[in-house]
Amino acid sequence: SVDMDQITSQLSQLGVSELPSFPGVQLYPQYNPIDIYRAYIIEQVHKATEADPAIINNAVAWTTDLKHGDLVLPVPALRLKGQKPDELAKDIALKFDCPLLEKPVAEKAFVRFFFKPAPLATLTLRYILQQKDAYAFNPYLGREEPGKLESRQKKLIVEYSSPNIAKEFHTGHLRSTIIGGFLVKLYTAAGWDTTSMNYLGDWGKQYGMLSQGFEKYGSEEQLEGDPIKHLNEVYVKINNDNSVEQKPAKQLAERKDELEKVKNPPKPKKPAKGQEAPPEPPKWTEEQEKDLQSVTAELEKVQEELVAKPSIDEKARQFFKRMVDNDTDALRNWEKFRNLSIEAYKKMYARLNIAFDDYSGESTVKVEDMDKAASVLEQKNISEDSKGAVIVDLAKQGAPKLGKTLVKKRDGTSLYLTRDIAANYERFEKYAFDKMIYVIASQQDVHVAQFFKILSLMGSPYKEAVERCEHITFGMVKDPKGQTMSTRKGTVVSLADSLDSAKDFMHNVMRKNADKYAQVENPEATADTLAISAIMVQDYSGKMVNNYSFDMDKMTSFEGDTGPYLQYSHARVCSMERKAGLPRAELLTADFSLITAKEGVELVRSLAQWPDVFLNTYRTREPVTVLTYLFKMTHLLSSCYDAKDAGNRNAKTMSVMYAESEEKKRALMALYVSARQVLANGMRLLGLTPVERM
Ligand code: ARG
Repeated sequence: SVDMDQITSQLSQLGVSELPSFPGVQLYPQYNPIDIYRAYIIEQVHKATEADPAIINNAVAWTTDLKHGDLVLPVPALRLKGQKPDELAKDIALKFDCPLLEKPVAEKAFVRFFFKPAPLATLTLRYILQQKDAYAFNPYLGREEPGKLESRQKKLIVEYSSPNIAKEFHTGHLRSTIIGGFLVKLYTAAGWDTTSMNYLGDWGKQYGMLSQGFEKYGSEEQLEGDPIKHLNEVYVKINNDNSVEQKPAKQLAERKDELEKVKNPPKPKKPAKGQEAPPEPPKWTEEQEKDLQSVTAELEKVQEELVAKPSIDEKARQFFKRMVDNDTDALRNWEKFRNLSIEAYKKMYARLNIAFDDYSGESTVKVEDMDKAASVLEQKNISEDSKGAVIVDLAKQGAPKLGKTLVKKRDGTSLYLTRDIAANYERFEKYAFDKMIYVIASQQDVHVAQFFKILSLMGSPYKEAVERCEHITFGMVKDPKGQTMSTRKGTVVSLADSLDSAKDFMHNVMRKNADKYAQVENPEATADTLAISAIMVQDYSGKMVNNYSFDMDKMTSFEGDTGPYLQYSHARVCSMERKAGLPRAELLTADFSLITAKEGVELVRSLAQWPDVFLNTYRTREPVTVLTYLFKMTHLLSSCYDAKDAGNRNAKTMSVMYAESEEKKRALMALYVSARQVLANGMRLLGLTPVERM
């Protein structure tokens, strides 16, 4: 943070007395230059109206565009009786007196505040140059007691990514990974104690299937080489065999179903008044009866054979049963698959700037905790027996939209839902979290709502835990034609492959500028970073609930609001810094009042907003909040490069190279370096790695 003594002395140089403070109003002037302005605005508005400082603070708002002011006060929000808002607005503007601000503009019921350029530049750029990587990040937000840095850090678990071993790592998992990674960075920057958790899909009959498949099709060599790909291939093959094997039985069962429907047609609904009765269903013939009997007999025979052989499916069930019973032989392969997959995931996550603190998974949920949950459900009459299985009818529990759900199968084995219930409990026991966020695709909205609801019905401690939980949902990734992407459909090969093809694409773009390319230290790594930026920025470009399409051409373009554009903006200032060769220490003492061109003033105003944007992002938790700001800011930055002198239309008035004096050069460089710093801070918050050359 910035030293408050320094701020006080800066403020007195700028002609204002000590920063006012108000009981019940939490401002953070050591992190946020705008909070200095807030303090004076509260002071002045309070003087003029006697409104409560806390109410004034809540009323003062951001503007959508800087042309409407740096901050705005909608007077009705002061909730004062008597004077008309328009009158009061004029009155406030008239009485307002602070050397840091221009005379406010009263416009209808609004008072618009504009900060004076020179003091704003002095304050803001010094904040940025001093705080560097920390500018905007306010660690007080994650403390138990507001305003007390020494109080306990709140504990957050974010569960995200959570792929299924041997099944494809699909774009839904990629989105969960990207969004979850962002949330962890956001809360960490806000001072929370965060834990990244990966809840692997690593349990169930399908692992019995996989083990069998590996015996038949597996290769140790390929497994070591690319475990995710190989296990997926093996899994697809054995599943294929299984469906071939099951096909006759499946067809017979379908035929039997059809016939039975004809035999026992559903009762026709009573016709509404005035409507004709529906025609009688056709008669059930003797021939059809014969047909049904032979189909039934054949089906029984085929099913018996499947069990006697035994079938792939039956072997998978038995194998999984052995895993559940802790049979070391059965678990040996599974454990190896799991470990190798985790190693491979880790490499991929590293490319995305993500590391998990906790690899849990469905396999780690303890049977005793599931039993415990089951007995609570039974005792509290939440669950009921249904033909030997256990179900919860959420409609009976006041949630008609959530329907009925199975919590235990007839053979006594657990389900995805049961494991989620017990896992939630286990995490609360282990971490005593203040908050837990599940980042799960919208296809599972109902599943999440169901297990949240069940937990809340279960009472203490389940209820307390789930009240601290939140589901952050997100839309699907489609291909540019609007189809869902799937490795099975062949629209994507694998996640690693699509990262690689984005990387090759960016590498080719880089090669086009041979001079620059020669100077990039590690072109492979840079191309990879650019590709990841392209993918992430595209993912962040809309609200999380929206679907978007994975469009390689669009996201890798340097034009438009893309990842490569942000990287380019960053690298461009880096190159300017290298050429100018001014030491940082000299920038801090520059005369910032020399930044007078309209473009420069606008850029400063935008840079001052970054801590507020961070704060707003902490409220919305939408990465697009950061992204929208970064694009606005970088557009202002790029308009500075070409800014023309009002007197001399040919001179680039904000060019560091051609600055008319050393003083001006330092001031301009300080501005560009600050813009680069803010850009880098925003990019890192989003999980991007800013590059210095490209
Ligand atoms: N493994 C699951 C899937 O791929 C996602 C897990 C989400 N997390 C949870 N707690 N259910 O569909």
